[in-house]
Amino acid sequence: MTKIITKHFDEPKLHELAVYRRLGGYEGLKKALAMTPADIAAEVKKSNLRGLGGAGFPAAMKWGTLPPLDKVPGPRYVVGNCDESEPGCFRDRVHVERAPHQLIEGLLIACYAVGAKEGFVFIRGEYGRQHRVLAAAVKEAEAAGLIGDKILGTPFSCRIMLMRGGGTYISGLDTALLESMEGKKSWPRQPPPFPTNFGLMGFPTVVHNVATLAMLPHIVVNGGEWFAKLGTAKSGGTMLYSVSGHVEKPGVYEFPMGTTLRALIEAAGGVRKGHALKAVIPGGTSTPPLGPEHLDLALDFDTVRAQGSFLGAGGVIVLDDTADMVEACRDIISFLTHESCGQCTPCREGSVWTKRILERLLSGLGRPEDPANLERIADNVTGKTICALGDTVGIVLKAYIKKFPEEFKRRAVAGARSSPEGERPGRLQEGRGPAGTEARV
Ligand SMILES: Cc1cc2nc3c(=O)[nH]c(=O)nc-3n(C[C@H](O)[C@H](O)[C@H](O)COP(=O)(O)O)c2cc1C
Repeated sequence: MTKIITKHFDEPKLHELAVYRRLGGYEGLKKALAMTPADIAAEVKKSNLRGLGGAGFPAAMKWGTLPPLDKVPGPRYVVGNCDESEPGCFRDRVHVERAPHQLIEGLLIACYAVGAKEGFVFIRGEYGRQHRVLAAAVKEAEAAGLIGDKILGTPFSCRIMLMRGGGTYISGLDTALLESMEGKKSWPRQPPPFPTNFGLMGFPTVVHNVATLAMLPHIVVNGGEWFAKLGTAKSGGTMLYSVSGHVEKPGVYEFPMGTTLRALIEAAGGVRKGHALKAVIPGGTSTPPLGPEHLDLALDFDTVRAQGSFLGAGGVIVLDDTADMVEACRDIISFLTHESCGQCTPCREGSVWTKRILERLLSGLGRPEDPANLERIADNVTGKTICALGDTVGIVLKAYIKKFPEEFKRRAVAGARSSPEGERPGRLQEGRGPAGTEARV
């Protein structure tokens, strides 16, 4: 199986410049600087490289939305997004730590291709070790003339800066990330305009996931066509997955786009011995679960979407027959409630209400109308917020109830049976608490 990002991961000290260069590192940058920016963009277009940060948006199309340099001549930036805070996602932590120069090389190529003289990596605050490794790699590259003025003797000059996140999931969303970089509270902006037109400090900015950027040196060296051919018709190259949950060998796995879910789970040692597969979350906890019937699904952005879920950032969580799907749903909604930035009322309130209902169902005090109420609230959140975190609340709720209706119904009916006659299960009686603390669900 062809590997791209993880190809040399068995090599000791790959994080050091000398080792990375011995294995062909920075040849992509050298080749890129001998090409025109337009030629690089053409190769990326041919490659069918899709953004690996979650949405799968074609990279070349994103670059194409930048205003032309002659019309908007001021600064422009490229930002590598390494915030990686979604449960189930940990691959960026691994490849940035193992091969930091691969990311730096990709970032420099992206900067050159879009006319930026400054590139950034926004790295999750908790990734202290990865930040140290990346900072050391930047220093090494600066000392070797790979970052700075007149890189490799060409007219191209570029600086790379690192910024650390403050510990919020929402900072991974591109517009919230930009706010955070500007020193503000990381509240998502309402697009349009999108970052390629109004980004960091209001200047055109390309935000890419760090794995997307790490693919660029390989596309430049081997050509867009080579990359496209590795994947499926519309998703080129490979996908880097974080596989966790009820598998024997959780870890980071790289497979060509179009590899089946079955092959991926087998590579991760299969479902825990003695248990059967119940569900697979394919792209991180914001993506609806798939079932055993999807094992032969050829994973790429469009195929998974056609099944009502998303490939997302490749955070695959495998759940076996011991998993309680109401509990799983509650855990995800609890996380989203905690991480909701509070800017939009439907998300701020809807996430708390639904978390409370889910907790009530799990406590044995559920009501028959709870599943329907969850769905009603979900409809009042999805599509009614600035960013996709709110959408996720609604999408996750509806997906779990639709796929596992019996588990929700069982909890709701059992709760109604066990409640004392005449008392509304789980509802705080009005006037019981201090003013303003009455339950709202
Ligand atoms: C709530 C939320 C959190 C996100 N977190 C991340 C993240 O940690 N890393 C990331 O690359 N993209 C994240 N994204 C997606 C980014 O907004 C953006 O689409 C992505 O960085 C673009 O990179 P790409 O073109 O390589 O996909 C998040 C989106 C949402 C809605």
